[in-house]
Amino acid sequence: MHSTTTKSQRSRGVIECYREFLPVSPAITIISLGEGNTPLIYSPRLSERVGRGCEVFVKNEGVNPTGSFKDRGMTVAVSKAMERGMTTLICASTGNTSASAAAYAARAGISCAVILPAGKIATGKLLQAFAYGAKIVAIDGNFDDALRIVRELGEIGDFTIVNSINPDRIAGQKTAAFEIVDDLGDAPDFHLLPVGNAGNITAYWVGYREYLAHERSTRLPAMLGFQAIGAAPIFHDRIIDKPETIASAIRIGNPASWQQARTAIVESQGGIDVVSDEDILAAQSWLAQQEGIFVEPASAASIAGLFKCCDSDDAAYSFQKIRQTSRLVCTVTGHGLKDPDVIIGRMKELNPVAATVTDVRHAIER
Ligand code: F0G
Repeated sequence: MHSTTTKSQRSRGVIECYREFLPVSPAITIISLGEGNTPLIYSPRLSERVGRGCEVFVKNEGVNPTGSFKDRGMTVAVSKAMERGMTTLICASTGNTSASAAAYAARAGISCAVILPAGKIATGKLLQAFAYGAKIVAIDGNFDDALRIVRELGEIGDFTIVNSINPDRIAGQKTAAFEIVDDLGDAPDFHLLPVGNAGNITAYWVGYREYLAHERSTRLPAMLGFQAIGAAPIFHDRIIDKPETIASAIRIGNPASWQQARTAIVESQGGIDVVSDEDILAAQSWLAQQEGIFVEPASAASIAGLFKCCDSDDAAYSFQKIRQTSRLVCTVTGHGLKDPDVIIGRMKELNPVAATVTDVRHAIER
């Protein structure tokens, strides 16, 4: 196999690190915030849960510059938009794409319009779009409506669409698969991730295939995608008109990369399954409290999915007879601080005690 990338190359952002695999010219001016190079964290407790000597790793994409995996694709999409002389970005979003687009537009010194479903964006993500100075338009409709409008505005020609229907986004996002292979020395046996608009599962599959073709790996993982029960168009194989889930990032009824996701799942002999909101929130708490990794609800769908594969008889894919010593990777896509509302609701009110050692000690022991 060929040599892998070094850590110092990686810290310069995904274009510098993986440019031979990306659609960029040598002369391109790179718009980067140092995205990528995210940790692949070995998880002893998840490994134990799977059993049979298997190893589970968590790819923590929440530590990207704007707190989600979107930054990998945004650096490529925005650098290329700048090269073409475009001055206005536009995207539809459930929150993370808009935060990322707004940040990279600011970095590039161009403007950015984000079209969002009113009342359905997690607090932290909306706050990010404001902070980075994007033009925010809320619509009375869902993400699918917003994307339809963005596609039409894109056709007029003044805007560069930076949703994952822009192939530059997918190209950038595939670098997460490269990093995983570089870290593990080969591709894992299974890759689990949440699925919304289905760009990310598409991108990982492209990345794994490309690395295999370039002999950087010797095999391909089975791709296992997880949708929320109330927003599971790919699982049900039909458009969901009114998708609903607590995991607002993946509240999508008509994914843009539906067919590509299907191809990834079928070609990799993987699967698509659903997880309930209850299981998503339980997995979110579990990951925070057992492994110290705090992710947003949508991200916890991959962990809830792993539990389902281990425990449930009606899972689309069962780990009960998994090959001994298999390696599994779960991508967690976004940081927990972006979407704090459920956790805030669970927090007990803090009643201060007197500022003495004795009172504080009593309070700790209570
Ligand atoms: N996880 C998070 C945290 C997301 O923000 C998204 C998508 C996904 C998973 C699903 O990834 O769409 O590639 O299948 N968020 C988009 C957005 C839709 O607008 O931020 P996907």
